[in-house]
Amino acid sequence: MNEAIRPGPETPPQANSRSPELSVVVPTFNERDNVTVLYRRLEASLAGIAWEVVFVDDNSPDGTWDVVRALAQRDSRVRCVRRIGRRGLSGACIEGILASSSPYAAVIDADLQHDETQLPKMLSLLASGQADLVVGSRYIEGYKSEGFNKQRAGASALATEVAKKMLRVEIADPMSGFFMVRRDRFEELAPKLSVHGFKILLDLVATAHGSLRAVEIPYTFGERQHGESKLDSMVALDFIGLVLAKLSNDIVSLRFILFAMVGGIGLVVHLTTLFIGLELIKVPFAEAQAAGAIVAMTSNFILNNFLTYRDQRLKGFALLSGLIMFYVVCSVGLLANVGVAFSVYDQEPIWWLAGAAGALMGVVWNYAMSGLFVWRKK
Ligand code: GDD
Ligand code: MN
Repeated sequence: MNEAIRPGPETPPQANSRSPELSVVVPTFNERDNVTVLYRRLEASLAGIAWEVVFVDDNSPDGTWDVVRALAQRDSRVRCVRRIGRRGLSGACIEGILASSSPYAAVIDADLQHDETQLPKMLSLLASGQADLVVGSRYIEGYKSEGFNKQRAGASALATEVAKKMLRVEIADPMSGFFMVRRDRFEELAPKLSVHGFKILLDLVATAHGSLRAVEIPYTFGERQHGESKLDSMVALDFIGLVLAKLSNDIVSLRFILFAMVGGIGLVVHLTTLFIGLELIKVPFAEAQAAGAIVAMTSNFILNNFLTYRDQRLKGFALLSGLIMFYVVCSVGLLANVGVAFSVYDQEPIWWLAGAAGALMGVVWNYAMSGLFVWRKK
């Protein structure tokens, strides 16, 4: 920063503004009926603390941003970041924290499932220097659940164990969406975080490699009052992708891993179709193989549109033209795959090495070209 514009030590603090000590970041998507209730609850719980709240809304069709804007007009502690053309929970949280300037930032869901009355306690743990990160945990003693069904609780517990083992994450509930962190520490780690996933806390803790001193406090995960959960079954795949990306030390991006996982599913789809064609319908091999390729490409396209590129999901006519473009990209990818496999096999006649090299070439090609031509950034 230019010395001339940097506020020097002689610059008096503005008498009329008390800069906030705590920024509460609330990601929202279709939470119109919840935001005002949350705002009122924050106001009640945070009495005596200088706070602000940053709602990060991905242009919700229900106009959540409109309700937030109206709150912001009455109370300058409320801010609304309305993002257009982007979707994603992690990205929204990251942007909200980076848009704040207070020394501590909390992330809390808008749907009142998290317990905002814990915020002052979380703040005092950070402010007293006992921790860099405080997590609202659903797994430690004292935790009660109202809003979690059995099936989801089981899946979540299993995923948590996997993540803790593989990424050497020590905290009990790295899947929590409720936490508070020192902004300076977050700012250091932010460039390495993935904006695509759902699991911002897991990403943060794994990226920190044990350098964040974490404290956990139990809270009651409540019932959702209005609207519905946005986390679908794709979250499981998303989670596996994040674990793999972190294991590779972020050399491989989460998006590429998701794309490659979809490719793996495509192989199973291909072989299943081939089998059905040959054994059950009894068509000639060439036809069964072609059918397998078309079915697999189509299902890969649909899965990628739902998972890998969910933040840029194609709809309507763009979906059809995207599918055709995807066929073209994959066909060229297949040529690249076979070409590389042949030349490797020529030098070193090891079938699996040649096959794997070809497949890798194919997926890298398909990924690069899909990003350029199918799900291109507008
Ligand atoms: N800006 C933005 N963009 N916000 C989003 C998006 C998005 O794409 N998707 C979801 N949100 C917001 C929701 O509006 C809500 O405020 C919050 O993120 C959580 O979304 P839910 O759809 O309510 O998720 P959940 O209740 O199933 O899961 C939550 O709780 C779990 C347990 O604590 C999330 O916080 C999970 O991350 C967490 O594991
Ligand atoms: Mn929720």
